[in-house]
Amino acid sequence: MGFIKLNIKVFVVILLSVFMLNTLRLNAADVAKGEALFKQHCTACHKVNQKIVGPALKGITQKYKDDPKFLYEWIRNNQALVKKGDPKAVEVSQMEPSAMNSFTFLQDSDIENILAYIDSYKDTPPPAAPAASGGASEGGNQDVFSNPTIYYSVLGLAVLLVIVALFLVFAAAGLSASVRAKEQNEQVTSSAVWGEFGRFIKNKFILTTIITVALLGGTLKLIQAARGVSIHPGYMPEQPIKFSHKLHAGKHQVDCQYCHTGASKSKNAWIPSTNVCMNCHKGVESGPVYGKSEIAKIYMSAGFNPESKQYFDSSTPVDKVVEVFSKWMSDDAKTKNLTGALEEVKKIGFNKPIEWIRIHNLPDHAYFNHAQHIAVGGKDKNGNAIECQTCHGPVQEMEVVYQYSPLSMGWCINCHRQSKTTYTFVDPKDPKKSFTPSPADMGGLDCSKCHY
Ligand code: HEC
Ligand code: HEC
Ligand code: HEC
Ligand code: HEC
Ligand code: HEC
Ligand code: HEC
Repeated sequence: MGFIKLNIKVFVVILLSVFMLNTLRLNAADVAKGEALFKQHCTACHKVNQKIVGPALKGITQKYKDDPKFLYEWIRNNQALVKKGDPKAVEVSQMEPSAMNSFTFLQDSDIENILAYIDSYKDTPPPAAPAASGGASEGGNQDVFSNPTIYYSVLGLAVLLVIVALFLVFAAAGLSASVRAKEQNEQVTSSAVWGEFGRFIKNKFILTTIITVALLGGTLKLIQAARGVSIHPGYMPEQPIKFSHKLHAGKHQVDCQYCHTGASKSKNAWIPSTNVCMNCHKGVESGPVYGKSEIAKIYMSAGFNPESKQYFDSSTPVDKVVEVFSKWMSDDAKTKNLTGALEEVKKIGFNKPIEWIRIHNLPDHAYFNHAQHIAVGGKDKNGNAIECQTCHGPVQEMEVVYQYSPLSMGWCINCHRQSKTTYTFVDPKDPKKSFTPSPADMGGLDCSKCHY
């Protein structure tokens, strides 16, 4: 029975490694990713060690250590909590006069990373010594090997796989030895098992390990790639002009379709041309946050001279144009760095359309049409009219617009099952009975409706 004893030992080793791996995983919150997310979504209102629009967040995990679930829920959707009347949320919401946005697209792991970044934040980070501070390097591009926590968990996983592989080989060797022993009517001895194990290992083990590790690496890369492609709610690139939906569609209540004129009549909603901006900005020369510097970019694109209030002659040399802007912006208290601001204005290009970066993008094989959704006036699962916000979220509250919904096939299909079209069918036998079909009932699940 030496074989069984040996197997128990191997089991204990495996259990221990699983346990080790779990602790590794628990520590695998990714500070660098957290920093990137924090900078992208939170720095408009929060600093770690200083109150700005929102409170300083230093020690926040400590503050909510008795109720971490609340902290996650607050960050993800504080407005829903407050609306629900959650007493703790109501209390927190009274801290400051302004309110916090919701971040419904943040996963638990994202929030975990953000909190890890806040916890690891040092008041005076040592300049240019990111490696020493344990991976709190500049956010952005990073792969498995430049990030110690991920690297070690992958390494841990690889070690575990090797152990599992060893165990399997050992079990196979045990079986093989006992079959042989039975054939020869002998007792199974541990030396026979080990002998078999040695033979197995020589020809199969190394190969098996290499294949396993390669497969693991490949899977990781695949997962990464798959997550990067097309399903990326929260995508928020930096735009050439700091255009704020919160200011225009929120505070000034400009209708979505004043700018996105295509939405009710064509496939695309369209991004407004500079002329549409000029309807208002001929008169509005300065903004509450950036003063003249961002609006100057509209004038550059339109070829408009803010000094003379006339359009430049299109043959005006760019240097002359920039000179005019330099003079016009020089008295603007909000433009702190005039040279830098002029560089940015120049980058827009004189008399050139603004190159907005597209945020929503379905793959070429999928077809989506705005007019089919906006003009027909279907109802969502709660019976409310389908509006821009049903799919794009509270754009009127977004300083910088981001992809709110996953835009995945499952998302389209789900809504087609749950919502209602505008058709009503009356039961010919009983005119009092009527039926409003869902888009799914009307063929809205046919592959060809959405795929070329
Ligand atoms: C638009 C501004 C704004 C943004 C963006 C914002 N917050 Fe807030 N946050 C606030 C305000 C204001 C409060 C104070 C509560 C209130 O008055 O509603 C707050 C409160 C909090 C609290 C509770 C603080 C406490 O002491 O209990 C946490 C935690 C928090 N924010 C985390 C975040 C995180 C993480 C992000 C980024 C994902 C973020 N916030 C983005 C404005 C913002
Ligand atoms: C004053 C003009 C204006 C108004 C009003 C406006 N938008 Fe926009 N919208 C823009 C501009 C310019 C962009 C491109 C820059 C950007 O992404 O911020 C844009 C981008 C967008 C995008 C992202 C497009 C992409 O690249 O995928 C969506 C979605 C959007 N708007 C929805 C709305 C909704 C919903 C409303 C109403 C609540 C609205 N917009 C009101 C001008 C406007
Ligand atoms: C319907 C009128 C209207 C249209 C159209 C419009 N804006 Fe504005 N915009 C305003 C007003 C009003 C302000 C100033 C708000 C204030 O002072 O509170 C403003 C301010 C701004 C600011 C300054 C923001 C700041 O905080 O300093 C920028 C940048 C801007 N708009 C960009 C654009 C762009 C780009 C377009 C075209 C895509 C556009 N606007 C179209 C009305 C408009
Ligand atoms: C049923 C969901 C849905 C509704 C409702 C909806 N959109 Fe969209 N929107 C999308 C999808 C999906 C895309 C990506 C389309 C693509 O890549 O072909 C998109 C893309 C966009 C874009 C960028 C590309 C383009 O079409 O020019 C803008 C701007 C936009 N929507 C604005 C709006 C506005 C404004 C409204 C309301 C009038 C609205 N959307 C209503 C789903 C929706
Ligand atoms: C918010 C709910 C909602 C979402 C999300 C949604 N749709 Fe729809 N869709 C509808 C409704 C409602 C109709 C039916 C409108 C009507 O005819 O009354 C419809 C109709 C359509 C039609 C026309 C079907 C027909 O029978 O003529 C197509 C095509 C379509 N949707 C494609 C898409 C695609 C592609 C997506 C995802 C990118 C999507 N839809 C996401 C609600 C939605
Ligand atoms: C209501 C619209 C809609 C219908 C109906 C629909 N699809 Fe899709 N499909 C999409 C969208 C949108 C995408 C792109 C999603 C993405 O990029 O994640 C997609 C993606 C795909 C993909 C690429 C793989 C993927 O998940 O990205 C395949 C394959 C596919 N669809 C097959 C089908 C088949 C087969 C049918 C019929 C049984 C069908 N679709 C019906 C909207 C639809």
